[in-house]
Amino acid sequence: MKTILTGLRANSVFTIGNYLGALLPMVRLANKHVNDCHLNLFVPDLHSMISEIDGGDLQSNILRSIKCYLAAGMPTGKNVHIYRQSRVPAHSELCWILNCIATMGEMNRMTQYKEKSEGKNSVNVGIFDYPVLMAGDILLYSAEYVPVGEDQFQHIELTRNLAMRFNNRYGDIFTIPASTKEQVKFMGLEEGIRIRDLLNPEKKMSKSTVAENSKIMLDDTPERAAKKIMSATTDSLGKIKFDMWGQPGISNLMVIESLVNDIPLQEVIGKWSGETKYGELKKQVAASVSKLLTDFQVRINEISDDQVYELLESGERYANEVANTKLLEVQKAVGLR
Ligand code: TYM
Repeated sequence: MKTILTGLRANSVFTIGNYLGALLPMVRLANKHVNDCHLNLFVPDLHSMISEIDGGDLQSNILRSIKCYLAAGMPTGKNVHIYRQSRVPAHSELCWILNCIATMGEMNRMTQYKEKSEGKNSVNVGIFDYPVLMAGDILLYSAEYVPVGEDQFQHIELTRNLAMRFNNRYGDIFTIPASTKEQVKFMGLEEGIRIRDLLNPEKKMSKSTVAENSKIMLDDTPERAAKKIMSATTDSLGKIKFDMWGQPGISNLMVIESLVNDIPLQEVIGKWSGETKYGELKKQVAASVSKLLTDFQVRINEISDDQVYELLESGERYANEVANTKLLEVQKAVGLR
């Protein structure tokens, strides 16, 4: 059985970018493949430490993340595995071995590292190295499909390169994840998802952006989210056209409308292209997002802590079994065992 795997850092409440870019694609694939694939949705809690976090909040963030997974519609059952990265020590061990395969040159090219370290006097090594830990997260479970937002595509390509390099040196140990082009196709998309900042649509929507109106959080009230959409930056061209370079604000709204309602983007573009009333499109998107948040918030409140801990118990048992088996293969291949 193939494995589909993803994880979302548990630093704070998720944005709608996290939700639409990674969680919803995972949930939709999981519901489609619940009988024919392993579905690993984990909390990369070690990755949370690359940003300064309040240790006291981490446990509650982890719990809330998993409730978000379930409230987003993640199925449960024998092929679904929900776990915390730090409860599976093999992740850290494989990370070290892969560190000795990765080169400074390729790591220096990682856009996320460049963006996250820009303008800072001092940058922690974790920010530089986290794509290698991520590669280990994927390779331990032989995952072929990894639904992530477009900002993580370079890390999927890095994972493929590390796996191929390792296999060339030490034998056929790792399954090579699908290329990002194949990943996009598997998700039923035309291109990778990058939800834009509502105020600066040239930029990615990010939870670390300070301006509250630039992002929609999953715990925003539906009214607040609607207001944020109504005040989103667009352009002065006066005619709706899907053009991420020329009209990123309005194009971003069409992408959101398509993903929230699971309608092909081309259909949304067909409906709105040529229209001149930006306010009408904004109202439509605001209604779609409000409904999404209303439903999501009802569901998340119905999930108990006990339900989460029960899932973690079986998920972590499974994860340790699979990860330790792969790690032992790796250790034998490199001569550590
Ligand atoms: P993280 O926690 O920064 O983001 C979680 C997921 O949300 C996606 N995302 C977006 N997608 C579209 N538009 C946006 N504006 C947007 N913002 C965030 C991200 O692409 C990501 O898929 N290193 C990863 C977490 C990770 C992981 C893994 C993922 C660790 N190990 C193994 C997959 C497989 C990260 O920091 O994502």
